[in-house]
Amino acid sequence: MGTRINSFEEYLQEYKRSVDDPESFWGRQAESYTWTKKWDRVLGWDFVKPDVKWFSGGKLNITENCLDRHLSARASQQALIWEPNNPAEKGRSLTYRELYEEVCRFANVLRNNGAKKGDRICIYMPMVPELAIAVLACARIGAIHSVVFAGFASGSLSSRIDDAQCSMVITADGGYRGAKEIALKAIVDDALAKCVSVKRVIVYKRTGSPVQMAEGRDTWWHDEAAKADTRNTAEVMDAEDMLFILYTSGSTGKPKGVVHTCGGYMVYADYTFRNVFQYNEGDVFWCTADVGWVTGHSYLVYGPLLAGATTLMFEGIPTWPDAGRFWQVIDKYKVNIFYTAPTAIRSLEAMGPDFVKPYRLDSLRVLGTVGEPINEEAWQWYHENIGKGKCPIVDTWWQTETGGIMISPLAGITPLKPGFATLPLPGVQPALLDENGKELEGNGVEGRLCMKFPWPGIIRTTYGDHERCRAAYFDTYKGYYFTGDGCRRDEDGYYRITGRVDDVIKVSGHLLGTAEIENALNQHADIVESAVVGFPHPIKGSGIYAFVILEHERKDEEALKKEALETVNKIMGPFARPDKIQVVRGLPKTRSGKIMRRILRKIAGGDASNLGDTSTLLDPAVVEDIKAEAQ
Ligand code: WTA
Repeated sequence: MGTRINSFEEYLQEYKRSVDDPESFWGRQAESYTWTKKWDRVLGWDFVKPDVKWFSGGKLNITENCLDRHLSARASQQALIWEPNNPAEKGRSLTYRELYEEVCRFANVLRNNGAKKGDRICIYMPMVPELAIAVLACARIGAIHSVVFAGFASGSLSSRIDDAQCSMVITADGGYRGAKEIALKAIVDDALAKCVSVKRVIVYKRTGSPVQMAEGRDTWWHDEAAKADTRNTAEVMDAEDMLFILYTSGSTGKPKGVVHTCGGYMVYADYTFRNVFQYNEGDVFWCTADVGWVTGHSYLVYGPLLAGATTLMFEGIPTWPDAGRFWQVIDKYKVNIFYTAPTAIRSLEAMGPDFVKPYRLDSLRVLGTVGEPINEEAWQWYHENIGKGKCPIVDTWWQTETGGIMISPLAGITPLKPGFATLPLPGVQPALLDENGKELEGNGVEGRLCMKFPWPGIIRTTYGDHERCRAAYFDTYKGYYFTGDGCRRDEDGYYRITGRVDDVIKVSGHLLGTAEIENALNQHADIVESAVVGFPHPIKGSGIYAFVILEHERKDEEALKKEALETVNKIMGPFARPDKIQVVRGLPKTRSGKIMRRILRKIAGGDASNLGDTSTLLDPAVVEDIKAEAQ
């Protein structure tokens, strides 16, 4: 097993080593894995092209490191515990041996169905153990998995399948989320009407509800598994071969397929997992994120399994059957480390203390948050009510593109400050830049958060469009990776993320491109144009505010709004539905036709008193109209 930092003094030393000599630092970390062939060179990099290679020439399979490597010492230890949506249904668990066998079996299923190294496979599944098995089975045969969150609707699903030209989709008949049942297979059928690349669909039976099976294309998971063996030789992968694609929203309407590769991602996911959470042998670790997001990839599946931990997967939602569900699960499985999103904390806090009281929560040792800034009040509530004042909270800042946690306390080691992600992890070299691209030195400064040196989990490309990767992350500030976040470094050198500086918003921890929502709204027959911005929302972090222009006046504006919501629901999914829709006669545009979102953001945020300079607008009167009717 790799090393773990044990004191703040050690952190400082390790940080210094990682900056003074990154290659020997990461080379040493990489020593502890099973490599079929050792790498020739730890790092080669160029942030202009960009071109980053870690552990070049190294050969490995990440699943041998997640599974086979642990069989001698922990074959009968639980690898994955699964808690179903409905507390009345029995849970399941798989030991490391069982998980190994199921992954091998499903890897054979994939091969039997024609999948091979380099193929792209879309996984669109509910939170059941088979989701993790499918992910690992893809990695085992060298197929590139592209997991799409099962809350996405058919429009978003089909564009992701199409962009990656997936040859296969792995799905389920349906899934449960609280009191709802979601007909996943029907959504896949709908999406595939537009995707010609898909030759095979494998369907896991979860709900038993009737589904259509397309002859020659669709097959059942259980039928295929019954024919497959549990012996499987892992595909030998190059360290820089693609491991997965994960789509994330950008400033244009089209999502970006963030690409991660085998060797660097493995080393980084494991190193950050062990150090940030201060994982101890035998700990039960629970990350509440869906595997459809990067947090689920790195800290529900890969990180914990690489470390030989017991990872818990929960199918349901925090508020069903009641708002005590998370706390009940923690007591039931004696969870030691709990990792969730600020939005969940805020919504559970709002339900009142009675839902927490019945539970002991005394197994907890470390708490974590991810995905958006945590406000001090939520931090204090989490600390006192859940952590009983004794559990450190790690506020972890990172991104789909970074593969793993970048700025975060090490639990119990880094002195905490609520609202601060605190300090960079070893190997992470942040820089704050002003608008002209000048690096701000020293402490007590605020700017745009960039990285000036690569770490092993860094994005390698955006699938099928390297130029997009360059333009989105490496072009704004030459020689730097640009995160898209604003950030302050205080007098103590502590980092506080202030939020996005581009046109993406964080809604309940989900990253959404405003352009993507606008595109969906514009699909409504009566909407000619729309502009979407975020506004501060007490639970969701950001709410979604949509300004829409209609083709012609509609007397029934309320009905129109309902239809508009349904349009977004059908194309993107329920989590992208605007909280507010305002019909406007025009949008504040400059003479060159650019929408001045700054103005809309202020109006949406209820702060229209000082809109700044509006003299460059084509029609300043539009602003007065919008203000008058703002909600
Ligand atoms: C935001 C999620 C403040 C940030 C892992 C980032 C955070 C975006 C934090 C990436 C945090 C993530 N404090 N903001 N601890 N963690 N963010 O790709 O704006 O879904 O750029 O990855 O979430 O979102 P993504």
